[in-house]
Amino acid sequence: MLRAIAIALACGLIAAASARAAEITISCSAVGVELELCRDGALRWARETGNSVRLVSTPNSASERLALYQQLLAAGSPDIDVLQIDVVWPGILARHLLDLAPYAGKRPVAHLPALVANDTVRGRLVAMPWFADVGLLYYRKDLLRKYGIAVPRSWRALAAAARLIQGAERAAGKPGMWGFVWQGRAYEGLTCDALEWIASRGGGHVVEPDGEISVDNPRAARALTDAAGWVGTLSPRGVLNYAEEEARGVFQSGNAVFMRNWPYARALAESMGSPVRGRVGVAELPAGVGTLGGAQLSVSRYSRHPALAASLVMALTGRDEQKRRALAGGFNPTLPALYLDPEIRRANPYFDVIAQALAHAVARPAAVTGTRYNRVSSAFSNAVHAVLAGQADAGTALHSLERKLMRISRGGRW
Ligand code: GLC
Repeated sequence: MLRAIAIALACGLIAAASARAAEITISCSAVGVELELCRDGALRWARETGNSVRLVSTPNSASERLALYQQLLAAGSPDIDVLQIDVVWPGILARHLLDLAPYAGKRPVAHLPALVANDTVRGRLVAMPWFADVGLLYYRKDLLRKYGIAVPRSWRALAAAARLIQGAERAAGKPGMWGFVWQGRAYEGLTCDALEWIASRGGGHVVEPDGEISVDNPRAARALTDAAGWVGTLSPRGVLNYAEEEARGVFQSGNAVFMRNWPYARALAESMGSPVRGRVGVAELPAGVGTLGGAQLSVSRYSRHPALAASLVMALTGRDEQKRRALAGGFNPTLPALYLDPEIRRANPYFDVIAQALAHAVARPAAVTGTRYNRVSSAFSNAVHAVLAGQADAGTALHSLERKLMRISRGGRW
């Protein structure tokens, strides 16, 4: 009898164990080397746990990625178990995401507290921090040296240097040279760039942490007017349709003096075969103001395998994997302990610059606007785009944006 029970139990355990193995689907960004890094990490987890993984690549534009997720999640689709989500999305997506606290144990305390707070919505841990991003200024070390120009500390100095070097290089037989490339398409990336122009000039953060809508002010207008003046002069007109990868393409092929981009671009610009390898400098953006970005991993509430999906999230956001990603792709850890890691520091000569930029980073108004953040950001980037494209003057555009934000917030009550 006992033997029979033992056998029955053993069979039950085996059945339970094999029932637990499953295919987990993870959606990742495909910008630069992100998809490969995500695949390698997920496959490692699959090997170690006896499960399998399926990768879903997502559009390069953060705004399009969000639209895809919203569609899937609104339909309650179980098609994706684990989602790479942006630092500004926890508030928007929270109701579709699993509370990871029961699976995370003590892990969150090892991460940057501000990111854990950002991923906690109404007491639920809806994501685990994966990497931290910040807007940076890339420059051609060789060209700045050649023309005896220091790394610019203000937007005015940047524009002057870009203009001068662009002109001299073109005259010296490089007709394709541009001064400055950045993200000018009407999408989340432009929200990040424009926040940098405005905040660095003391023009506020579009919506302030206390909910005040601050964007209709002369400093913000001045910042946008200046940026509109770059288009077609020191930035190609095509910049109005650039996201991160288009800007990197121009800079990495040697056709731009300066670029605004995230840390991922450094490892690629310095990779074997890159035309600008060995000639890339990285600095904080003018006035030391870069937008805070980054990604987290979440589990969909509609996943059929929540425990396994959470296990994959814990593995990918853990120390080993964050270190591997920092070394292989220059992704900034969300674990402060890794900022002291000698191997990571050696691998990236600009690690301290980037850590400084992160320490000074400005946040987009996602926390205060909550579920309405995407409407705020789209309204902002569309207004900025219209100014850049010469369809509206900055003052008028910001005035009507302020009115629109008032409506979105129902009179400033977020
Ligand atoms: C990067 C940042 C993210 C931001 C996006 C904008 O992926 O990490 O926070 O929203 O760029 O394009």
